[in-house]
Amino acid sequence: HHVLVLAGGLSYERDVSLRSGRRVVDALRGAGVDTDLRDADATLLPHLAADPPDAVVIALHGATGEDGSLRGVLDLCGVPYVGCDAQTSRLAWDKPSAKSVLRSLDIPTPDWVALPHDRFSELGAVAVLDRIVSRLGLPLMVKPAQGGSGLGASVVRDAAALPAAMVSCFAYDSTALVERYVAGTDIAVSIVDLGSGPQALPPVEIVPVNGVYDYAARYTAGLTTWHAPARLPADVSEAVSSVALAAHRALGLRDLSRVDLIVDPSGAPHVLEVNVSPGMTETSLLPLAVQAGGLDFGKLLAGLVGQAAG
Ligand code: DAL
Ligand code: MG
Repeated sequence: HHVLVLAGGLSYERDVSLRSGRRVVDALRGAGVDTDLRDADATLLPHLAADPPDAVVIALHGATGEDGSLRGVLDLCGVPYVGCDAQTSRLAWDKPSAKSVLRSLDIPTPDWVALPHDRFSELGAVAVLDRIVSRLGLPLMVKPAQGGSGLGASVVRDAAALPAAMVSCFAYDSTALVERYVAGTDIAVSIVDLGSGPQALPPVEIVPVNGVYDYAARYTAGLTTWHAPARLPADVSEAVSSVALAAHRALGLRDLSRVDLIVDPSGAPHVLEVNVSPGMTETSLLPLAVQAGGLDFGKLLAGLVGQAAG
């Protein structure tokens, strides 16, 4: 098979995506797959028409990569790709929409309010923020409704810090997701499906050295330590995996995904979000889970590519 790995793009996660793309290309080539890396720019369409690959691996993160638009283009060109379809991707990428689906199926996710910037200004920022605090309590998590890698996200422990958190968030998206902050252990569950149904890889526990898993902690070597598998009691680990699989199925995801959760001190999991194009960098979670699961990253990708190419 000839495989094209798409990376880069114009989202805030461009740099992360280029790192993911290079790692995916190396892994596929290591598994003997003929693979090229390409930036997803204006030359993509003519390239796809002139030299259509057998399958695409989308290593783009953020808008374009995860909002369904690139997948729509690939559908239009009749080029198969690894991962879920455009519509599913769009749903999963919008955190409030994805959380509504999870909640409607009784999959635990923290209480939230989605606040468009326009409404925020119209209603008066102070009154709105007061209402949010009285409804959700403190601390809160503020993040862009659509975004990734922790950009524009902050934990708010004191109501006085909420306006600044909203401003940081609105720098990345016109809608803010304000969520009840659940204290506990950060866990990521990677899910892969090689044709026999979705399987959860061992949960990975994330321990940021400075306590906050922000952009720097995610992508700077030494700022986060991991435990793969997570240091969870067996019954908790099973519950976490089954909630993650339920979230993957509920949103109609395909091939591979990563579900991010918090496990509270009672051992109960709370789904924060799902990722349709999880990071594949040297410090990303899915490759760690693959290793912990005793799988070979390159062979796994080659299997997914073979499945997509048919
Ligand atoms: N948004 C980043 C790439 C991740 O979820 O890993
Ligand atoms: Mg994400």
